[in-house]
Amino acid sequence: MSYKKLAQEDITFFTEVIGVANVLVDSEALANYSHDETEDLKFSPEVVLKPEKVEDLSRILNYCDQHKIPVTPQGARTGLSGGALPLFGGVALSMEKFNKILNIDTNNGQVTTEPAVITQVLQQAVAEKGLFYPPDPASKGSCFIGGNLSENSGGPKAVKYGVTNEYVLNLEVVLANGDVIWTGANVLKNATGYNLTQLIVGSEGTLGVITKAVLKLIPHPKRNMLMLVPFKSAEEACQAVAAIFQEGITPSGMEFMERDALTWTKAFIGDDSIIIPDDIQAHLLIEVDGNDEQLLMSDCEVIMSVVERFNVGEILFADSQAQKDKLWNLRRKVGEAVKSQSVYKEEDTVVPRYELPKLLKGVKDIGKKYGFHSVCYGHAGDGNLHINIIKGELSDDIWNNELKNAIREIFELTIGLGGTISGEHGIGHVQKNFMDIPFDKVQLGLMKGIKDLFDPNGILNPGKIFPDN
Ligand code: LAC
Ligand code: ZN
Repeated sequence: MSYKKLAQEDITFFTEVIGVANVLVDSEALANYSHDETEDLKFSPEVVLKPEKVEDLSRILNYCDQHKIPVTPQGARTGLSGGALPLFGGVALSMEKFNKILNIDTNNGQVTTEPAVITQVLQQAVAEKGLFYPPDPASKGSCFIGGNLSENSGGPKAVKYGVTNEYVLNLEVVLANGDVIWTGANVLKNATGYNLTQLIVGSEGTLGVITKAVLKLIPHPKRNMLMLVPFKSAEEACQAVAAIFQEGITPSGMEFMERDALTWTKAFIGDDSIIIPDDIQAHLLIEVDGNDEQLLMSDCEVIMSVVERFNVGEILFADSQAQKDKLWNLRRKVGEAVKSQSVYKEEDTVVPRYELPKLLKGVKDIGKKYGFHSVCYGHAGDGNLHINIIKGELSDDIWNNELKNAIREIFELTIGLGGTISGEHGIGHVQKNFMDIPFDKVQLGLMKGIKDLFDPNGILNPGKIFPDN
């Protein structure tokens, strides 16, 4: 695919449509919009556009389509698979001005929102009306709903409440040629033709640009209980996960942290409230929620009886909201803490949860073979393990040339266990050349056919999802 380099006439057109203040070409702006949170990757756009109205966005896309100008939609740029990187330059289409919650419909338990609302802001706004929007990625304080929709984000609550796609009823989308469509209807069931709504969710800005979303809300649970369980063996911590579900409990959080994940994060945020004894190799952070305190207590008793079948240390029960917040903050900061320690690569593997111990062991064996250290953590209840491969003392040669073979082995192991290569971060740029592992030519061909139908000129977020060759 070859694209047009931007010329003055293009900038003039954009300026006519959205005004000079929303067309940025200065080097500082180009640098700001050249990265997300994926490793240290940077790809500069040629211009940053910040449209404020759907009609203007439609005109811009129509123009870019006709002139073969690549367009990379961007939200808060907190993504971890490079989905928002403008690989081919062109337009960085920042959606940041579409930042309003349009309507909270308490009669139907729905919210209509623009995409650049911060996830936590939306959660708080609906919580004030007793309603709950559960998907809560670690970056919930800064990521946008639009990014969550585009990557089908998860987070700790997904284990009980499901990921973003389970809350999406209807989307307004601007297509590559500028057409504006709604994908579905504002209803809880819909058996009307192909499900365009779910096709757009998780499509990483490659099929269209989301300008409005109608999301499902549920009643807010009134109580929760949180415990931190230390294990003497990381594999046993993983074994305990499926065992808890097998007792009929569905926790609202079931997070796994290897020893380094927690110790590095404690150091990173300067938290010394938790002591981690030398013989502890991993923790599970387990939350239950609901409305009935007695039921939650009895769930906790069942969980205790399961974890005590393993080699565990002293279990910590959070006894105040402040302590709960502290524990969740520790968990949410693991990613940032790892990033601050070393150059790293993060994989987002997911397997059926009973296979988690085999995945962890396999990753460690692959690490020994290639000589890398890994720090693993994640949403164990979903079988979703974030594997951080630490560069540490590895040579640039090994890092740049051999590591991809190790990652390939990790992904092959994941597929062999019945899993797949991304649970919630998406494929974007950094995983695309591994897409031949979960999918064969027929499957990839179907996906490519869908892409070509929506975006025949290939202007929308080019270079993402599909392998280079
Ligand atoms: C987390 C992000 C990295 O779970 O997905 O912290
Ligand atoms: Zn995660």
